[in-house]
Amino acid sequence: MQASLRKRWIRAIVGVTTMAALVIMVVIWHPSSLYPWFKAFHVVAVMSWMAGMLYLPRLFVYHCGAEKGSRQSDTFKVMERRLLRGIINPAMVVSWAFGLWMVYDGGWISAHWLQLKLLLVVALSAIHGMLARWTLDFAADRNRYSERFYRIVNEVPAVLMVGIVIMAVIKPF
Ligand code: HEM
Repeated sequence: MQASLRKRWIRAIVGVTTMAALVIMVVIWHPSSLYPWFKAFHVVAVMSWMAGMLYLPRLFVYHCGAEKGSRQSDTFKVMERRLLRGIINPAMVVSWAFGLWMVYDGGWISAHWLQLKLLLVVALSAIHGMLARWTLDFAADRNRYSERFYRIVNEVPAVLMVGIVIMAVIKPF
């Protein structure tokens, strides 16, 4: 096995084990007084997630205009990879972790606003998956879509975000 692949596996196992240990600890301890703190960290995480989800397709728009193999294209590849791995991926994990904890702790699961919010967040997570796929395509100089396509994609997370925030804050039903 390559050294870098082994390192990635070790990092993933350490990450998942730490997360599992934290979840078990919190479920046993059940600190409801921490609810507002978890909500605060949830909001910080969703802000970071959204910042990345709005910026990455914009980078794709600019990347489409850069010639394959050029220095500019290589710079975009580095920016896209770092944005995805350093911000968007961890922010999504943290948003889901704190969000699901609040669903459990607040007993929100039967609330209709939460159910619709979850549907929209699943759609947002699917877009996240597609952005990750397109980042890999750009990295391998195998982009299949136009600048216009990414301009349109750029609007989708923004529209979902409006619906999600209205559900979370207004709770209309
Ligand atoms: C990842 C899955 C998510 C789950 C399971 C989840 C779940 C929750 C829950 C249960 C609350 C607590 C509501 C309350 O105590 O009033 C909450 C609050 C909130 N969520 Fe999420 N959420 C998720 C993702 C998101 C996303 C993607 C956004 C924004 C784009 C978002 C924005 C907010 C906001 C702004 C609040 C604070 C609402 C308030 O206190 O008025 N959430 N979320």
